[in-house]
Amino acid sequence: MKAVTISNLTKIYNTKAKTVTALKNINVEFEFGKFYLITGHSGSGKSTLLRIIGLIDNATSGDIFLNGTNIKELKSKQLADIRNKEIGFIFQEFFLDKFLTARENVTIPMLINKSFSAQEAKIRSNELLAAMGLSARANHFPKELSGGEQQRVAIARSLANNPNIILADEPTGNLDIENEIFIFEKLKEMSNNGKCIIMVSHSKDALKYADKVLEIENGELKC
Ligand SMILES: Nc1ncnc2c1ncn2[C@@H]1O[C@H](COP(=O)(O)OP(=O)(O)OP(=O)(O)O)[C@@H](O)[C@H]1O
Ligand SMILES: [Mg+2]
Repeated sequence: MKAVTISNLTKIYNTKAKTVTALKNINVEFEFGKFYLITGHSGSGKSTLLRIIGLIDNATSGDIFLNGTNIKELKSKQLADIRNKEIGFIFQEFFLDKFLTARENVTIPMLINKSFSAQEAKIRSNELLAAMGLSARANHFPKELSGGEQQRVAIARSLANNPNIILADEPTGNLDIENEIFIFEKLKEMSNNGKCIIMVSHSKDALKYADKVLEIENGELKC
């Protein structure tokens, strides 16, 4: 089964000023156990595609299948469930809750999901932070962490409910090369463990890690 299948996807933004066709007739498949890199110029539609796959935004037309299910057939509660359990999202800006510690940030998705008790969620958060080399930082608030550490917390949070699809939108855009390599290696490890990783990045180093590179130009997939 494919992780994600996209068929004839088009996205049009209607603003007061003008109409923008951000994605034009995209057809693509993403498999489990593979690391995909999406590249393309600024404004080409990369984030739009990731947001639509991550159920944060809607397509204007076309079909999206996640784990073989057409998302058009799902009700909003089911979509919210998939967003929480099946998909992990990592953003360039980290988006940690500044009022919560690193551990609490990682714990929250598990408590929302309700498949973990508070105690289990705490233990799992500690394990996920340890895997990111952050055991000593679990009780720190985001402002007490470096950018690289904050992004590692965000990655631990994205893994909280053990999703099979990880979407990363320029996850190392604000980081130095050392943190960048650490994060690419972690994402590669996840794909080796069977997850489907789809990452947008402008980094040349990312090419070494990707199983497949997809280029978007003006809303169209080139290869
Ligand atoms: N909410 C919106 N309303 C109107 N137009 C939008 C909206 N979001 C994005 N766009 C437009 O859609 C196009 C694609 O934007 P998108 O953010 O997907 O590009 P991108 O490839 O991620 O660029 P970057 O590399 O700069 O992040 C751009 O022309 C952008 O201006
Ligand atoms: Mg973008």
